[in-house]
Amino acid sequence: MFQHDLLKGRAIFLTGGGTGLGRSMALRFAELGARMFLVGRREQPLRETCEEILRFGGAAAFTTCDVRDYAAVETAVAQAEQQFGAINALVNNAAGNFIARTEKLSPNAFNSVVGIVLNGSFHCTQALGKRWIAQKLGGNVLNIVTTYAAANCGSAFVVPSACAKAGVLAMTTSLAVEWAKYHIRLNAIAPGPFPTEGAWSRLMPSKQFEEDSKAKHPLKRFGRHEELANLAAFLLSDMAEYINGECVVIDGAQWLRGAGEFNDLMLLPESAWETMEAARQKKS
Ligand code: COA
Repeated sequence: MFQHDLLKGRAIFLTGGGTGLGRSMALRFAELGARMFLVGRREQPLRETCEEILRFGGAAAFTTCDVRDYAAVETAVAQAEQQFGAINALVNNAAGNFIARTEKLSPNAFNSVVGIVLNGSFHCTQALGKRWIAQKLGGNVLNIVTTYAAANCGSAFVVPSACAKAGVLAMTTSLAVEWAKYHIRLNAIAPGPFPTEGAWSRLMPSKQFEEDSKAKHPLKRFGRHEELANLAAFLLSDMAEYINGECVVIDGAQWLRGAGEFNDLMLLPESAWETMEAARQKKS
């Protein structure tokens, strides 16, 4: 469906690019001709993703960066520009999340998730946005949110993530209007369940819960990474020039089936929570 050079000439700054959906998007965008600058906290996965892109003849570079730290984001953006010249697009994909009973959360736990998701997305958006405005370049921002980010939805047991992603969505719609005159577009994608090591290890309490989620899903399956990567490529491409301030849900109608992706965790017995909490305490 896509021409092979759909994203040719683009330089894309993608956060959380070493693993999971970030990695899948990085590979797909590079396949479509984009030069990828990947940032994340851990060097090894970033290096591996870049090497894979380089192996098939694509262009990629990386730097480690914790998006919670504005100065680190500024440095990473400068490095990206040094590598590829002007950056054309930003994908705010880096995220932090885990399931927990909210009354048990420490302030630092809340801040960690909000820091990565909301502050991190703002840091990257502002660092690139102010350059695009000053240099009259225009730009394109794609924010990876979630179906429970909608203000009238939310989700039990992932409250820091729900608050942070709702904020990212508000930033998307607000800046879509404010920065339209600078030819900067902002859109979001709200993925439903897409299996990744990072998400599954933190959000799926058991194999049984996973099976039940699938059984309750209208399509009886989870998302495939290429399905999300192709949607993201479309939204970043010139074909989507007039789409601005939109959030596209890609979940096979899961959220329509029952708002609140994690509300069914109410079915977990108290003992299962206690076992998980004890295991986590043993690790730390
Ligand atoms: N339940 C409750 N609290 C938790 C928790 C859990 N499962 N996991 C971490 N926390 C708390 C920690 O106890 C700590 O709080 P404290 O200092 O008051 O004890 C706080 O969160 C920060 O944890 P820490 O591991 O020190 O922070 P970090 O910055 O290294 O990690 C996280 C950030 C917590 C978001 C971590 O899960 C992470 O790195 N996630 C990135 C990848 C990811 O989440 N992917 C899934 C995307 S869907």
